[in-house]
Amino acid sequence: QTIFRKDYTPPSYLVHTVELGFDLDPARTIVANRVTMSRNPDSASADIVLHGEEIELVALRMNGKALRPGQYLLGASTLTIPKAPAEVTLEIETLCSPETNTTLSGLYVSNGSFYTQCEAEGFRRITYFPDRPDVMAKYTVMLRADKRRFPVLLSNGNLVERGELDDGRHYAKWEDPFKKPSYLFALVAARLVCQEETYTLKSGREVLLQVWVEEGNLDKTDYAMQSLKNSIRWDEERFGLELDLDRFMIVAVGDFNMGAMENKGLNIFNTKFVLANPRVATDIDYAGIEAVVGHEYFHNWTGNRVTCRDWFQLSLKEGLTVFRDQEFSADMIGTASGRAVTRIDQVRTLRQAQFPEDAGPMAHPVRPDSFVEINNFYTVTVYEKGAEVVRMYQTLLGREGFRKGMDLYFARHDGQAVQCDDFRNAMADANGIDLSQFERWYSQAGTPVVSAVTRYDAADETYEITLSQRCPDTPGQSDKLPFHIPVAIGLLGADGNDLPLAVNGKVVGATTAVLDFTEAEQTFRFTNVHEKPVPSILRDFSAPVVLEYGYTDEELLHLFRHDSDPVNRWEAGQRLAMARLLKLTAAVADGATLALDDTFIAAQRAVLVDASLDAAFREQALILPSETIIAEHMDVVDPQAIHTARQFMRRTMAAELGPELLEQYEANLTPGPYSPDAQSAGKRGLKNLCLAYLMVAPGPAEIKLARNQFEKAGNMTDRAAALVALIHSGADASGHLQSFYDDFSGEALVVDKWFAMQAAAPGTDLAAVRALMLHPAFTLKNPNRARSLLFNFCNANPSRFHAADGSGYAFWAEHVIALDAINPQVAARLARSMDRWRRYVPELRSRMGAALERVAAAGPLSNDVAEVIGKALAN
Ligand code: ARG
Ligand code: ZN
Repeated sequence: QTIFRKDYTPPSYLVHTVELGFDLDPARTIVANRVTMSRNPDSASADIVLHGEEIELVALRMNGKALRPGQYLLGASTLTIPKAPAEVTLEIETLCSPETNTTLSGLYVSNGSFYTQCEAEGFRRITYFPDRPDVMAKYTVMLRADKRRFPVLLSNGNLVERGELDDGRHYAKWEDPFKKPSYLFALVAARLVCQEETYTLKSGREVLLQVWVEEGNLDKTDYAMQSLKNSIRWDEERFGLELDLDRFMIVAVGDFNMGAMENKGLNIFNTKFVLANPRVATDIDYAGIEAVVGHEYFHNWTGNRVTCRDWFQLSLKEGLTVFRDQEFSADMIGTASGRAVTRIDQVRTLRQAQFPEDAGPMAHPVRPDSFVEINNFYTVTVYEKGAEVVRMYQTLLGREGFRKGMDLYFARHDGQAVQCDDFRNAMADANGIDLSQFERWYSQAGTPVVSAVTRYDAADETYEITLSQRCPDTPGQSDKLPFHIPVAIGLLGADGNDLPLAVNGKVVGATTAVLDFTEAEQTFRFTNVHEKPVPSILRDFSAPVVLEYGYTDEELLHLFRHDSDPVNRWEAGQRLAMARLLKLTAAVADGATLALDDTFIAAQRAVLVDASLDAAFREQALILPSETIIAEHMDVVDPQAIHTARQFMRRTMAAELGPELLEQYEANLTPGPYSPDAQSAGKRGLKNLCLAYLMVAPGPAEIKLARNQFEKAGNMTDRAAALVALIHSGADASGHLQSFYDDFSGEALVVDKWFAMQAAAPGTDLAAVRALMLHPAFTLKNPNRARSLLFNFCNANPSRFHAADGSGYAFWAEHVIALDAINPQVAARLARSMDRWRRYVPELRSRMGAALERVAAAGPLSNDVAEVIGKALAN
């Protein structure tokens, strides 16, 4: 059943207070719920509509009197009380079974303890309630549980009381002073320990910060705590936003569907985004923790204090909060080049995941118009493209203008549940500008394509750039209107320096101009241009678009050598590589001989050895476009040809750059104690990329180097990189894999890495994956574990997943079906692996279609999987 944004109606009743009492028992938890509510003047209805799923109604009283069946209607997932009085107190008693709840939505048990996940619609699995984000209420929560098994009892807000009960039970009472929607409710009843400290806010107020983990993990909480303190400070400084509670808790849980959850005052995290020490976590893990801790903390204002009216507005909080966490991570590095490296990562994510989504059967606008299952819309479009849309306001308005817009947004909407339009209006009104056309970024799906044509007039000393835009049709949307696109541009002279800019007669005063590109086609005129420039277009990736411009190799080499904008400097290298990869792929398909030109290799060599550049930037410049990104540039995808072509390029680079790779390997060692700072991480990144290249076709010396690094590594970054290099080299890595497993079998997150690195290696075929599934440590029930093996094979090992006989697709179908019976949200994510099936070569396409049909016929499917498969087959 499809739900449409246009069908929104206000809730018939508003809730004032919620008192929840939990008698926690894994098999049979009793939930008593007392709500006070009154009729909403904005609604014509006098029917109370409550949501409920997988719960058993035990008792129902209204204003003190028990209701008999007939006085209320129990539907499949609703409880309706028709024609209710204007003021109502409901008392509802229900039963649920947390230990059999494998969906990890609602109240569930992980490793013997209780946790909740209520976003988007999990609260209805705990009690009957108007489970929609525009119903905000004050919560008081009483938790009762066995004291020995569940010594720690947590919920939102402040602890007001705790004490002992009979039979070895105890209780804790929590009160959240802020009104919140039900999706922000949380409880934890568990055997946990915490790292805690009091922290002084800029205002002088003291707050208690806690990071709760299982006992053996107390040696892995420092970085999360440090990241939390940095987040608190950053939001004060950059946006003037203060922590509004006296107590802020983070809890780590091993079974979790997503990254983390911003429940008011009680954030619940996937362990992956909390636990780190140098022995078990890589540089990438550390960066992920900083970003996610920041993300969830920043939600306290952008999400919790101001929330969403309905789930179509999800990007209102997610796009904005991703943008905020991106800026936080960039500011934590501090240097301009460091910021650029984080920006390059963001661009890569967009191209790897969001552009394909925008071009596939699940394409949807940043603010979707309809959905079947909201959990399917926690997407890279809503999150990452949404963040790009927010970033464009800042590009158009400047940092100060953006801050003014944020201030006005909070002044107007604190405590409210609002829409994406309200954010846009705050930005427009605070800056006195018209952003009505900008609305199309929210309403139109698809990745816009911007084409540029330039003309230099030497006599006039003018340079014209004509931009045109188009946006492909997407399911249910055609004939799109022009977007308001900020195009940041600079012009490079022959000496590689930026030229001074005057656009349409106005002096810019900076070497980058932001063009307001709003029409289908528009010409911008630069004056006083003394030489024919090389244009650097879309600097810092100023808009989430595809840029087409007929660059010559010479121009790209010039940009790759000199562009003052590091993102476009990197981009020039990617364009040089992509052009060659596409030619090589065609040559593989035609059976022609493969060759790579010296010019390209020389350009790569120059960047590799340029010590004036950050190691992290050099690493980015040397990473070739992924097989997925190459595929997105082709109309008909032959994954084997792409793989062969890319491997050829890697092998040639390795052969040609051998001495320099070794030299840079050695120049970027990081002796001494491990530190996750950006400088050291950058060095490790470049060094390990050099190792990966050296191991493409290794001799004994290279293998020895990798083995040595594996054995001597003082941190997980270097150990894992060496093991991955060994696995990918084709050398026998079984002994190393075994010793790695033995060393870390007690560390779940490292065991995930162990499965993941094998799943993604081109040497791992389906038989090997099936063998790994029989490993005692494998289980489909834990999302991190399922993702480590299945998702990595289906998404990150294209040459094996797309085996000619279709065996990879059959495997995929089998496990989408198996996972759906356990956890529909996770199953639906795996289902997305087939999104782009129509673009593959005919032999593969027909086998992919058959696998999709097989899942479609398997029924009964969850809404989650049914929606994904249905859309793939229909579009
Ligand atoms: N709001 C969370 C975050 O982005 C994501 C939770 C989504 N969970 C879900 N099951 N859909 O931080
Ligand atoms: Zn979020």
